[in-house]
Amino acid sequence: MRDLLSIENLSVAFEVGGRWVPVLRRVSLQIDEGDSVGLVGESGSGKSVMALSVLRLLPRAARVIEGRIRFKGRDLLELPETQMRTIRGGRVGIVFQEPMTSLNPVFSIGFQVAEAVRAHRPMGSGQARAEAERLLDLVAITPAGERLDDYPHQFSGGQLQRVVLAIALAAEPELLIADEPTSALDVTVQAEILELLGELRSRLGLAVLLITHDLAVVAETCSRVSVMYAGQIVETAATRDLFDAPAHPYTRGLLASIPRLGRPEVRGQLPTIPGQAPALGDLPTGCSFHPRCREVMEQCRVDEPEMARRVSGGEARCFLMDSSTVEKAEIGREDS
Ligand SMILES: Nc1ncnc2c1ncn2[C@@H]1O[C@H](COP(=O)(O)OP(=O)(O)OP(=O)(O)O)[C@@H](O)[C@H]1O
Ligand SMILES: [Mg+2]
Repeated sequence: MRDLLSIENLSVAFEVGGRWVPVLRRVSLQIDEGDSVGLVGESGSGKSVMALSVLRLLPRAARVIEGRIRFKGRDLLELPETQMRTIRGGRVGIVFQEPMTSLNPVFSIGFQVAEAVRAHRPMGSGQARAEAERLLDLVAITPAGERLDDYPHQFSGGQLQRVVLAIALAAEPELLIADEPTSALDVTVQAEILELLGELRSRLGLAVLLITHDLAVVAETCSRVSVMYAGQIVETAATRDLFDAPAHPYTRGLLASIPRLGRPEVRGQLPTIPGQAPALGDLPTGCSFHPRCREVMEQCRVDEPEMARRVSGGEARCFLMDSSTVEKAEIGREDS
């Protein structure tokens, strides 16, 4: 598969009260054409900042310190703003958690989808309306023709998220970034939306970056997964390999907190990782996870581990991996 998006050693900092706080620290992520990649981590780990960096939508207080973001070989951080507009909402679509942040309550759904079509593809209003109907049908808002003139308040939360998907697909993107697209929905509706994402991926050849705090969602949806902790990616692997052999103690903690199929465990009774993530402005020395790590060693308090190759494929940022079987994988090595 061909490389679509490639984030290399990206570091981003926010200015908070006159100080620069590192929010992303040398994160790297690859997405191939048509691939589905999950980005997992607890609240505040930097998932949304990563998505916003790709679209160059970071708030004013943020600075890219280092790194590159390439989309089909073009460096997005160097691209003039005019060309960036063909990427943002064009080649790269985005869906957020809360559908109403993307919809206007005073316009009909059909109008809003048609406008999204016309923003990226020149066509008359009649043709755009027909295209809006086709897109609504694609996301299973049926009968699409009868819903075009309805307003957002006439749709359920799950239906609104489908409408937002139709808008994101209006420009025929190659990559869809979905930032917690189902967190606000109940479990059944969540499963329907995830299923729809999978269908769209195979029908349209769309690549998807799915951002979530829920590893179980990734297990069903993504072929690869990256785990974030305190602004770093601590482990990346094929989903199967990650579930079979999680290498980083943080990943292992996350996996242990997923209810197993057939075992009616209550969330509160599942093992959780003790302690909490560090404040980004006050990171511990050494490995950022060491204060919470059950397998902490002396070295972890002093040195920061680099990404190293996992035995079964992928990479993890941990000294625990047996150095005799693990090859240092210096991330960002390929400087092509
Ligand atoms: N505008 C901002 N100014 C200062 N700090 C910010 C700003 N936006 C985000 N941050 C900080 O960046 C860090 C990462 O935020 P981000 O929103 O990417 O987390 P997240 O992983 O998406 O979390 P969640 O799961 O809650 O959505 C957080 O610690 C947050 O405090
Ligand atoms: Mg977020």
